[in-house]
Amino acid sequence: MKKNIGNKLALYPTPATVVGTVGEDGKVNWMLVAHVGIVSHSKLMLSVHSAHYSVKAIDATKRLAVNLIDEEFLATADYAGTVSGAKTDKSGLFKYHLGEAGMPIIEQSPLAMECEVIDTYEIDGFKNYVCSILDTYVEEEKLDRQGKPDYAKLRPVLFEMPTYKYLRTGDVLGDCMKMGKALGETINGNAK
Ligand SMILES: Cc1cc2nc3c(=O)[nH]c(=O)nc-3n(C[C@H](O)[C@H](O)[C@H](O)COP(=O)(O)O)c2cc1C
Repeated sequence: MKKNIGNKLALYPTPATVVGTVGEDGKVNWMLVAHVGIVSHSKLMLSVHSAHYSVKAIDATKRLAVNLIDEEFLATADYAGTVSGAKTDKSGLFKYHLGEAGMPIIEQSPLAMECEVIDTYEIDGFKNYVCSILDTYVEEEKLDRQGKPDYAKLRPVLFEMPTYKYLRTGDVLGDCMKMGKALGETINGNAK
């Protein structure tokens, strides 16, 4: 039996990310964003509250960096999500370098994407930034033999808001398409 718990936002867990920005004054700032999504095969979206300090920089430069988080720097990342750059200088929180598009890439992050904002959808006080991906930086030892990111090695941290917890990733359950195909063959085989 499933209990109806009402109209709860329950589409979790989502990847926790540190979004890096550069203000018009050249100052780097970091915030945590876990309300992230994929909107096409080449675009992603970030949902950011309009009141956040980072918004000014994003709206001015139309650029940002999305840094995936691993367990090693989770506490620092969490801190970036608890204080505002409006009051606290967070620029020194992480070791970083600027990517080719000028956005801050965290040295410790296993994978980071420099993005360009191409559209903004405002709803309920949030700016939902639709972004195209300009560059993707991955730690070389976390690429597989085909040069693709290996998420079992990357182990990005996930977040869920109902109880404000971070979750671990890393275990491979199976090969997408192959599992279903094998089952389909069994079902069809049995039907013959
Ligand atoms: C786990 C976690 C996830 C968060 N996800 C989001 C989010 O998706 N969107 C958002 O606007 N704020 C989110 N926040 C809150 C901001 O990161 C936080 O308010 C931050 O201090 C804003 O920084 P700024 O004012 O320097 O821009 C999250 C915070 C935490 C701890």
